[in-house]
Amino acid sequence: MKHLLTISGLNAGTEDKSILHDVDLYLDANQTHVLMGPNGAGKSTLGRIIMGDPAYQVESGSIEFDGQDISEDSPEKRSLAGIFLSYQAPVEIPGVPLYSFLRTITQKRPELKASARQFRIRVNEICEQLDMDPGYLTRELNVGFSGGEKKKIEMLQLLLLQPRLAILDETDSGLDVDALSVVSRGMQAYRESCDGTLLVITHNTRILERLHVDHTHVMVHGRMVERGGSELIGRIDAEGFERYGVHEEVSAS
Ligand SMILES: Nc1ncnc2c1ncn2[C@@H]1O[C@H](COP(=O)(O)OP(=O)(O)OP(=O)(O)O)[C@@H](O)[C@H]1O
Ligand SMILES: [Mg+2]
Repeated sequence: MKHLLTISGLNAGTEDKSILHDVDLYLDANQTHVLMGPNGAGKSTLGRIIMGDPAYQVESGSIEFDGQDISEDSPEKRSLAGIFLSYQAPVEIPGVPLYSFLRTITQKRPELKASARQFRIRVNEICEQLDMDPGYLTRELNVGFSGGEKKKIEMLQLLLLQPRLAILDETDSGLDVDALSVVSRGMQAYRESCDGTLLVITHNTRILERLHVDHTHVMVHGRMVERGGSELIGRIDAEGFERYGVHEEVSAS
C-alpha cells in the first residue's frame, strides 16, 4: 500500500547549516502521529520542509505525498494537494475580515465547493463546536488577536479545510488551559470528521489527551531515533530524552 506521506533518506537544512540527517518517516491516511524531541532537534524544520518553506533546502532524499514527489512543489501547490501546517497560518492581513479570508481559501478547493449559505452554516457550526465567538469572523484577519485566539482560528481553518495531512506545531504556543482544550477538541473533531492524518509536534502531552495516538516518533539532533506507539509519550513525559543521549555532543556529520 502507498503511504500518504513518505520521506526517505532526507538530508536538509538552511544554506549554511545542515539540520536534518537521514530522516525516514512515513504516515498513512487516517492516523494520528506525534513527533517529540528536545528543543532544537529539528521538529519544526521538518514540518516546514514538508510544507516547502523556501528558507530550507533539501540536500538529498525524497518527499512523496500520495505517491507524487513534491520536493520541488511550491508551498501553495502543496497546500492545494492537501497539506496544512499550523505554524504558517496566522499571518496578519489588515483589511481582510476573517470570514472573507476563509471563504477565499475554501473556494480555491474544488472539493470544498459550497454555496454561500452552506458555507455560512458550516462556519457557524464549527464556531459553536470550538466555543468560538462568531464576532471574530468580522474582525480583520489576525490583527490584534491574542495567541489563544489565533489558535482557535487555526482550528477553525483545520475543520473547514479538512486537509489530508495536518501538521500542527504547538511549540511555544503558550496556551492557557481553555485554549489548550480548544486545540485538543479541534484536533479530535478533525480526526473524527474526515480520514485526514494528523502529525502533532508538541512538548505538552496534555494536548493529546482526547486523541488516540497511532504512532510516536522521536527526533534528536536532526535524526529519527525511535518510532513506537502511544506508550512512548508517557515514557518521555516521565523520563525525558535522557536515554537518547541528548547530552552527548553530536559528531560532525
Ligand atoms: N532558518 C534557520 N536558520 C538557521 N538555523 C535554523 C533555522 N531554522 C532552524 N534552525 C536551527 O535548526 C535547529 C532545529 O530547529 P527547530 O526549530 O527545527 O527545532 P525544534 O525541534 O522545533 O525545537 P523546539 O522544540 O524548541 O521547537 C536549531 O538549532 C535551529 O536553531
Ligand atoms: Mg519547534
